Amino acid sequence: LFATGTDFLKGVVAMSGMPPADRVEVCFAGRSNVGKSTLINAVTGRRALARASNTPGRTQEINFFTVADSHYLVDLPGYGFAKAPKAEVAKWQALLKSYLAGRASLRRAFVLIDARHGVKAVDEEIMSLLDASAVTFQTVLTKMDKVKVADRDKALDTTRKALARHPAAYPELILTSSETGQGIATLRSVIADIA
Ligand code: GTP
Ligand code: MG
Repeated sequence: LFATGTDFLKGVVAMSGMPPADRVEVCFAGRSNVGKSTLINAVTGRRALARASNTPGRTQEINFFTVADSHYLVDLPGYGFAKAPKAEVAKWQALLKSYLAGRASLRRAFVLIDARHGVKAVDEEIMSLLDASAVTFQTVLTKMDKVKVADRDKALDTTRKALARHPAAYPELILTSSETGQGIATLRSVIADIA
């Protein structure tokens, strides 16, 4: 799928600006700074396709990327803490929730969790929203390169326990690092298999 090429389509700031819901669509959700944009770049093999930075709140629009002629990858603004004006943050949080709850063509949400920090209350809130909207979500642990081997099993265990509480959770976790490339090929094939 990814051999065919990826392109930026558009950044959307309101539900009325969404492209037609006529492709297989997957999105990347997660707390600010968890690594959503970086992961999209890793998966597509395009270094600077999605804009990433160390400032939480970098992505402020819903960004659509086309993969081949069949798929959309969607980079979402983060939730939780963001270095941006409060009114702006409130606006994009509302848009984010409308999108997650109401996008007809959304086949799967990848919910990114920083492997060092685990599932937080704001993640639970988004997971519950996805449960209520019957959107299947799959958890992707990010920044695995930053996790000490000794802490790894505990991180996996607590994440699995949190997921067990969510009916919309897909049971299989994907462990990734955009730094080392861990899990990137797996994520590619998972996306390619979503029809
Ligand atoms: P917002 O758009 O602000 O919500 O953030 P985001 O989730 O898109 O995060 P982004 O991709 O901008 O990455 C945030 C920071 O984490 C950047 O400095 C990245 O270089 C870093 N980062 C992302 N993924 C990894 C990873 O796998 N390993 C390490 N070590 N750093 C990472
Ligand atoms: Mg981003």
